[in-house]
Amino acid sequence: MDSWSLFILVFCKCFQWTAAQDGEIRWTYTGLAGQSEWGEHFPDCGGSSQSPVDVVTSLTKYDPTLTPVTPLGYSQHNHQPFTLLNSGHTVMVTLPEWMGLGGLPWLFSAVQLHLHWGSGGPSHGGSEHAIDGASSEAEVHIVHYNSELFPNISAAMRQKNGLAVLGILVEAGDETNPGFNNIIRYLSRIRHAEQKVLIPGFDVSSLLPQDLERYYRYNGSLTTPPCYQDVLWTVFHEKVKISKAQLFKLETILYSSKSEEMDRMLLQNNFRFTQPLNHRVIYKSFSADRGKELSSGEVTAIVVGVICGCVGLAVVVRFITKTIRFFTLLHHEREVVDSSTSSWDLLHSQRSAPAPRENSVGKSNSKKQVNSRPEPEKREEVVLSPQTEP
Ligand SMILES: *[C@@H]1O[C@H](CO)[C@@H](O)[C@H](O)[C@H]1NC(C)=O
Ligand SMILES: *[C@@H]1O[C@H](CO)[C@@H](O)[C@H](O)[C@H]1NC(C)=O
Repeated sequence: MDSWSLFILVFCKCFQWTAAQDGEIRWTYTGLAGQSEWGEHFPDCGGSSQSPVDVVTSLTKYDPTLTPVTPLGYSQHNHQPFTLLNSGHTVMVTLPEWMGLGGLPWLFSAVQLHLHWGSGGPSHGGSEHAIDGASSEAEVHIVHYNSELFPNISAAMRQKNGLAVLGILVEAGDETNPGFNNIIRYLSRIRHAEQKVLIPGFDVSSLLPQDLERYYRYNGSLTTPPCYQDVLWTVFHEKVKISKAQLFKLETILYSSKSEEMDRMLLQNNFRFTQPLNHRVIYKSFSADRGKELSSGEVTAIVVGVICGCVGLAVVVRFITKTIRFFTLLHHEREVVDSSTSSWDLLHSQRSAPAPRENSVGKSNSKKQVNSRPEPEKREEVVLSPQTEP
């Protein structure tokens, strides 16, 4: 790279970071003010307890004290409208203060919900959290502040245990999700950044999965600058489904640019990459995944079963080898006897006269010794057994 292009790069970088008129530092997901640069102006973004994370389920720890989260007043919109906003980074619904969250160590009050998504349609990612390395097509975040300890979100923002966020992973399916249509239906009214519109209030719990009992819990951060590390995260195990058409609308209707800006930029791929766990533990509220995972009792049963099976197999194999050896020996003896002057018929017919048998025994014995396989008891069995036959 020559010095001139380097100069342009540095110039553009400074310009990008300082371009906002209102004194707010501009940031983006990609490019010169992209996520790898966030830490430059927002030190917390370079911290060690950042979000989102990849939930590696085999490393999660079961915590039996994690009770189901309980949405409070989510269904009571009281026919009051909600504000829907295109922030340039996401689409956001402001929530009334009477909505909250129980089942956590403190009472939390709802502030807003927003979404993250990708650009490539189904199976191209878009969610922020991942489970075992797999991201989903989108993710809903419902943000709450600790209203037991703090008077408002600004006061709670930088404090320990200040925020609680619910993370809902969204997958593309075939059926329209009516809950999500409460938002998606109005996206065309806020296509440009900073546009807002009043929408009819709706049941916010219609965005949640059915199963509120199974979730992952960890200490993390806001996933956008200023990345404050004060968020108690709850990521639900169950994903919710929206139709491919709904996903397509979410990915293609909104712009991250303002209406007066000449260059229209689609608002897409507004997700942050997963961040290192750095010794943090992710807890889970459930111990077994209905057949996918096994309890310790089941593991013990399987281990005992396998050991018994191995012992049994060893016994059977030993029995078979012994039997094969016996019959090989028997066959060998028979050959020896047949090849000698006498036969079994001869032996039987001449039972009264023991001389040929004696002879055969003597012969086989000598032959055996030549073959260097001296097994006296076996031989005796072999020789005697035909006599016991009728
Ligand atoms: C939030 O609470 C703090 C502390 O009581 C107060 O100073 C501030 O004005 C409040 N902010 C808003 C936006 O209400
Ligand atoms: C979060 O951090 C606090 C203290 O910093 C700790 O007491 C709590 O157990 C942590 N919670 C989780 C889910 O890791």
